[in-house]
Amino acid sequence: MRELTADQRADFSRIVKPYLSRQEVLRMGDFVQHGTVSTLAHCLRVARTCYAWASALGVHVDMEDLVVGALLHDFYLYDWHDRSTSRPHHATMHPLYAAENAVELLGVSDRVRAIIESHMWPLPPSRPPRSREALILCAADKWCSLGETLLMRRAPRGEKDTTVAAAALALDGGLAPTTPEGGARR
Ligand SMILES: [Fe+2]
Ligand SMILES: [Fe+2]
Repeated sequence: MRELTADQRADFSRIVKPYLSRQEVLRMGDFVQHGTVSTLAHCLRVARTCYAWASALGVHVDMEDLVVGALLHDFYLYDWHDRSTSRPHHATMHPLYAAENAVELLGVSDRVRAIIESHMWPLPPSRPPRSREALILCAADKWCSLGETLLMRRAPRGEKDTTVAAAALALDGGLAPTTPEGGARR
């Protein structure tokens, strides 16, 4: 991922910080998304990637809507690996579950809701991205998910990176792959 400048890191932190103080958001750190990566760390990585791509491309976007939508795009709050607790049709429906939580628990706007809802496109084909922000999120999520799935070791059962580590990574400017204990992998 392209490195952010110090000013961009500060701006990114300004946007995500209020959300990272919310217990509902930090709960994403309790669930594994891919391999050793928690859902919170995944969402933070996707949000940083969106910020970096939008900055590098120089396209006009609402950076706050983009980053908040990316941070909450997988805010569905269950373990999708566990069939006893996951909700029906996870692959196609989790963007709607995440958007519903974002609206009900955090009061996000309709614009952010729409950005979240289309992030799995073309799953389903009937829910395409309808803004630049939604399109960037859709691509960045696939890029980050591929990297996390291919490059990051599967965690031993019951181990995952920690909420604290993931939150700290967003604020100190780094989002390197983490070990299950939360330290930076060398
Ligand atoms: Fe997702
Ligand atoms: Fe995702």
